[in-house]
Amino acid sequence: MDHSVTAEAAFGRRSAGLTERVERQLSALLSDNDRLSQAMRYSTVNGGKRLRPLLVYASGELLNIEAQQLDSAACAVELIHCYSLVHDDLPAMDDDALRRGRPTTHLQFDEATAILAGDALQALAFEILASDEGLQRQPAAGLAMIKLLTQACGASGMAGGQAMDLQLEGQRPDQQALEHMFRLKTGALIKAAVMMPAALSPSLDQPARQSLARFAEQVGLAFQICDDLLDIEGETAIIGKTAGSDLAHDKATWPGLFGVEAARQRIAELSGDALSCLGRLDGNAEGLLWLTERLLNRDY
Ligand code: IPE
Ligand code: IPE
Ligand code: MG
Ligand code: MG
Ligand code: MG
Repeated sequence: MDHSVTAEAAFGRRSAGLTERVERQLSALLSDNDRLSQAMRYSTVNGGKRLRPLLVYASGELLNIEAQQLDSAACAVELIHCYSLVHDDLPAMDDDALRRGRPTTHLQFDEATAILAGDALQALAFEILASDEGLQRQPAAGLAMIKLLTQACGASGMAGGQAMDLQLEGQRPDQQALEHMFRLKTGALIKAAVMMPAALSPSLDQPARQSLARFAEQVGLAFQICDDLLDIEGETAIIGKTAGSDLAHDKATWPGLFGVEAARQRIAELSGDALSCLGRLDGNAEGLLWLTERLLNRDY
């Protein structure tokens, strides 16, 4: 039997345990003492796929870093992601009613509470990184992780990409402009998930760092193209979001602009490039291989 296939399957089995590990920690971090805390918890402990935390752990495996050292990074990335979803769904942004199979946070609570829940989830992400005792013993690594995550969610990352996404509603950008927006709004956080463990691996040389970064960039871009495809081809009951929402809101999407078949080809091309980047890296890449498949061949 092909070794790599066996190894990938092994990560697939372990991914359930790692997902459970993140669920436990997120649940412990979020109380439901008051309305704001309830909204934060509602927006986070709610059946997300937790793909970004899994990327953190899988990248850690490649770099020989134990899961325990990466728990804060895994939770922090997911908290930023959950915050981004709450704000993404707001009436002023994508104006969506369904998220992870439930009413969006602003509908379940109210708009002001959803805005504040997003703000507070973002703050909590940085609080848990800054409070991690393991990282406090390695302050340079801790600060490097915080820097990666702030860059990924700020004006040159997710928030900047979201601003472009809104500007592009009703427009027909070319492929380069559309993909630039995707790399920011979605790719940046996925790249941070993969690169944060590298902060704990100072001996990783520059070529290896670049291969890992490019792997993450290609997967991140392809992930958003898949998300756009699911909005067209997926079913509301399975994707947990209202299918057809992009068309209804005149969003600029990859398949919408360049066609469904071309979108599939672009995903295959990006996935091939991502895998060849992984092939240039030493270490155990089974988790990242398995996740590439999981991220880019999904039905929700
Ligand atoms: C959806 O992300 C939003 C995008 C950035 C495309 P996911 O598909 O990872 O959503 P959850 O976390 O599983 O809900
Ligand atoms: C991802 O794009 C946006 C974020 C960065 C949160 P979408 O707007 O397409 O994500 P979904 O489809 O609402 O999950
Ligand atoms: Mg959006
Ligand atoms: Mg949206
Ligand atoms: Mg979408």
